[in-house]
Amino acid sequence: MADARDDASLENVRVRFLGRSGEITNVRRSIGTLPPPERPEAGKTINAAVADLEASLADAARALASRELERALQTTIDVTFPGGTPNTGSLHPIRRAMEDACGYFERRGFAVVLGNEIETEYYNFDALNIPADHPAREGLDSFYLAPGSLLRTHTSPMQVRTMREHPAPVAIVVPGKAYRRDAIDARHSPMFHQIEGLLVAPGIHLGHLKGVLEGLFRELFGPRQAVRFRPSFFPFTEPSAEVDTTCPGCGGGGCRTCGGSGWIEIGGSGMVHPNVLRESGYDPAQVTGWAFGVGIERIAMVRQDVDDIRVLFENDPRVLARLA
Ligand code: DAH
Repeated sequence: MADARDDASLENVRVRFLGRSGEITNVRRSIGTLPPPERPEAGKTINAAVADLEASLADAARALASRELERALQTTIDVTFPGGTPNTGSLHPIRRAMEDACGYFERRGFAVVLGNEIETEYYNFDALNIPADHPAREGLDSFYLAPGSLLRTHTSPMQVRTMREHPAPVAIVVPGKAYRRDAIDARHSPMFHQIEGLLVAPGIHLGHLKGVLEGLFRELFGPRQAVRFRPSFFPFTEPSAEVDTTCPGCGGGGCRTCGGSGWIEIGGSGMVHPNVLRESGYDPAQVTGWAFGVGIERIAMVRQDVDDIRVLFENDPRVLARLA
């Protein structure tokens, strides 16, 4: 009885002995057939047997209930079980590099401006001092759409668009996508990201640019970053410089990432060309300015220590988890 499987089998036992025609009930009924002096003793014995049986039935019912509770607990949620770690994901390294760079400039009073990825030839080239027959256009083989419009090859067109809308001084950064008809390899992607910077006001010079970029790279890569300008040419700046920063991989000593030079190239820059200022409605006699364009993938790759740009675009969750 103690290991009764269910309430029904306990009830069967009760009915069999204590029910209206149960065995004990029948014995009790037959007391009347005994000689009167024996009846009290027989009654006591029967009562004791009934009490015993009822106590055993109650015990068995309790044992059954607790076994059922135990079974129920094992098949439902165990609230004491240690929780798993939820998969929360993270910002993509490109987005993070862009947000970090924008944050640096926003804290210094620069406005973040977004431009259209479909741009006119005029803003992408002509307004930036790159006329139709300029050889610089060749290096920017691009995706042309309707005549006169194309996927922008850089974020620089927003320099002119912004200056046309706002009188000096202006201080902006332009994060966003740019497109070139480049074959995909470890270093190139036909779609990539840049952040453009532009500061135009009376008395602005290259020293300001160097200081601002040094601060940017120290924030992005670490406190020991330096900036190196290398003379270069861009039609929309004069003078122009390639921007290098200390290779964060080796701290300047030379390694595989920097090809042994201790520096990594990260963008282009210069003083905004007077033709560009004039084309934007500014007076080069009143204001001067610097501009730069920095590659976001380059920043993300160096920070995440990956040497193939495709890793950033294939978005294999296992790789992204490693990068996070
Ligand atoms: N637009 C250039 C490019 O995509 C980068 C650049 C160079 C931007 C010099 C600038 C600059 O603003 O002053 O290669």
